[in-house]
Amino acid sequence: MDKCVLAYSGGLDTSVAIRWIAEKYDVEVIAVAIDVGEEKNYEAIRAKALLVGAAESVVVDAREEFCRDYITRALAANLMYEGRYPCFTALARPLLAQHQVRVAKERGARFLAHGCTGKGNDQVRFEVTYAALAPEMEIIAPAREWGMTREQEIDYAAEHGIPVPVGKASPYSTDTNLWGRSIEAGVIEDPSQEAPADAWEWTAEVADAPAEPVYVKVDFEQGVPVALDGEKLSGAALVGRLNALAGAHGVGRIDMLENRLVGIKSRELYEAPAATVLLEAHRDLEAMCLDRETAHFKPYLELRYAELVYYGLWFTPLREAIDAFLQQTQQRVTGQVTMKLYKGRAMAIARQSEYSLYDYSLATYDKGDLFDPADSPGFIRLWGLPARIVGEVGRKKG
Ligand code: ARG
Repeated sequence: MDKCVLAYSGGLDTSVAIRWIAEKYDVEVIAVAIDVGEEKNYEAIRAKALLVGAAESVVVDAREEFCRDYITRALAANLMYEGRYPCFTALARPLLAQHQVRVAKERGARFLAHGCTGKGNDQVRFEVTYAALAPEMEIIAPAREWGMTREQEIDYAAEHGIPVPVGKASPYSTDTNLWGRSIEAGVIEDPSQEAPADAWEWTAEVADAPAEPVYVKVDFEQGVPVALDGEKLSGAALVGRLNALAGAHGVGRIDMLENRLVGIKSRELYEAPAATVLLEAHRDLEAMCLDRETAHFKPYLELRYAELVYYGLWFTPLREAIDAFLQQTQQRVTGQVTMKLYKGRAMAIARQSEYSLYDYSLATYDKGDLFDPADSPGFIRLWGLPARIVGEVGRKKG
């Protein structure tokens, strides 16, 4: 019998998909779930896939891999799509698809499947990754094919003995990993209205945030955060701890309209406390350690990088080439940044680095100044020469 490897979340859609694919395509379905820090019960998810009819169920703990291969690169790229979205969903999809493809190859599967609808970005991210890593495999996208409403899905689940979530369904659709949490659907789809308070789970309302700030020192080694307040931590532990700490101070709420790859504008709510703190700290340390020309050039590539990640083009030569450049820039981004978390803000308030290019004796207006102002007139004469020539010609011509 042919095999199909499905990206499994444990939710209703992908649970229904297990049965639906097995019946419609007459295949064995292998479920693959990956833990990228969603804090779900993965043992229960593994069991559920088998219960609803998967032939095999695989769970991969990919939290440290997500930090090492994706979040680290996101930081090097100061990754923000449209200036505000830290791309956590966009980063996790290629990793999930990558593991799915690995399992599919190990089992000799013919099909790869995901539970995405036909309106979002995620379908693109999955399928482009499949195309890049396993062009020979065929793709099944049940949620795009079956055309069931949520009620019909629940009926289907009931008929097939698939457990249906009990209690009042959440009015929102959320997606979570270490790098952030998204909230969509329901009343959020009206961008003229303030987001309801119950949409937020990771971040305190600023009014309710502690009256006193908290300070946290972040150590970076070659652009990678490695310690908080001097304590060495794994990537996942460091990010997890910052999510809790900064979230309690209301840091990392994002409410934005976003341009999807498929052409739709959507209103998105995001909570990304750790990402907000680390991106700000990282940018601050770069300001100290990068020479001016690199610092001014790098953002052009960062802009492109954000598009590539958002557009699902992770496994492409251009992304790898830009990464090589970004990695080169991180060699001296080593040092410590003190962040102040207070009433919704994460501000770098002090920084130090063995690679600091800040030179007190050049910068100071006090005594001990080594900058020779006598160098300036000649420099300005040449710097302004083109402007002077244009000015002279303009004067002669009236
Ligand atoms: N708009 C974000 C993105 O496209 C988050 C999407 C999260 N929603 C989802 N259904 N996966 O990356």
